[in-house]
Amino acid sequence: MTENRFWQLNSHPNGNDFESALSLETSEIPKPKDGEVLIKNDYLSLDAGTRMWMTPRTDGYQPPLPLGSMMVGLCIGKVVESRHPDFKTGDMVRAFGQWADYSCVEPEITGLVQIDTNVDDIRQHFGVLGMNGWTAYWGLHETAKVKAGDAVLISAAAGSTGILACQIARNAGCRVYGLAGSDEKCRFLETEIGIEKAFNYKTENLEEAFKEIEGGINVYFDNVGGPILDSVFPNMALYGRIALCGLIAEYTADGPKGPQQFDQILMKRLTVTGFFSPDFMDQGPRLSRELRSSLDAGDIFIPFDETQGLENMLSAYKKLFTGGNIGKVVLKL
Ligand SMILES: NC(=O)c1ccc[n+]([C@@H]2O[C@H](COP(=O)([O-])OP(=O)(O)OC[C@H]3O[C@@H](n4cnc5c(N)ncnc54)[C@H](OP(=O)(O)O)[C@@H]3O)[C@@H](O)[C@H]2O)c1
Repeated sequence: MTENRFWQLNSHPNGNDFESALSLETSEIPKPKDGEVLIKNDYLSLDAGTRMWMTPRTDGYQPPLPLGSMMVGLCIGKVVESRHPDFKTGDMVRAFGQWADYSCVEPEITGLVQIDTNVDDIRQHFGVLGMNGWTAYWGLHETAKVKAGDAVLISAAAGSTGILACQIARNAGCRVYGLAGSDEKCRFLETEIGIEKAFNYKTENLEEAFKEIEGGINVYFDNVGGPILDSVFPNMALYGRIALCGLIAEYTADGPKGPQQFDQILMKRLTVTGFFSPDFMDQGPRLSRELRSSLDAGDIFIPFDETQGLENMLSAYKKLFTGGNIGKVVLKL
């Protein structure tokens, strides 16, 4: 192959209409400059947080992607040319690359790392051993400081970060409750993941339903924000902790709405803490070691929702915002 296909961001998407905002373009395969590495992508990771980069927001945790740029995202692949002393042709790596056949990256700013190929499934470097695993582990253990017996509620519980958070909390001896958008996902969480109970947020009156959580919710691992967060506040236990991981309900809305039941933070003396994975990238090797032992022991798993072909990127991406996935959404090139 001499050409490189890539997805280009042309305008800010309206809702989930990604087709009108991005186009599949073709150029020559990039030539790495001094200090850069060229990767032939094998897999691309689809991550909900990248939706914010497609907006014009300048107050987010990452600056917006300039219009006309290649869309960026995590990739796994093989180094095909290196002009960096720490990487060589043939290395299997993971980085923040591009939605493309090839990713040309500067290691220092893209988190480029060599990955252990001695795993049953290389995609685990996006899942249990990747950013979703690290985020779930960090949010529960470092941000929320979960302890055995805590009632832990997790939103978007059947998604990639959520499924891992459910199992990490369960393995820590917590009573785990989940939220998901279909009865099928709720059944999966209760039977396959073994959580206490899953609530269908589309059909249940959550503020009432949460009353069955004995003693109130000690920890809320929030992936969603929006109206669900409001139904959680009055059901938090005294001195509860909210680990704010994501706000997927608000990424495509016209700006953040914020909670109405904010007063409950004072009434219940809650701690609400946002956390962001690039802040703890330096802890990656430690987190991967912890998660690798759970993976090898069979104490944690993740289903993969895999789509084939770069041309099908947008339909795979949309699943994150319409609930079409159970587990980690990946694209195979
Ligand atoms: N802080 C960090 O460093 C960090 C790192 C990674 C991920 N995150 C966050 O974690 C969250 C999950 O991301 P992910 O990439 O792992 O995606 P994911 O959970 O695999 O997929 C997203 C899921 O969210 C649910 N969802 C979508 N819109 C919703 C809405 N309006 N209300 C309730 N649920 C909704 C959908 O399932 P249903 O069928 O249940 O609706 C969907 O499957 C995102 O908020 C993301 O930004 C944060």
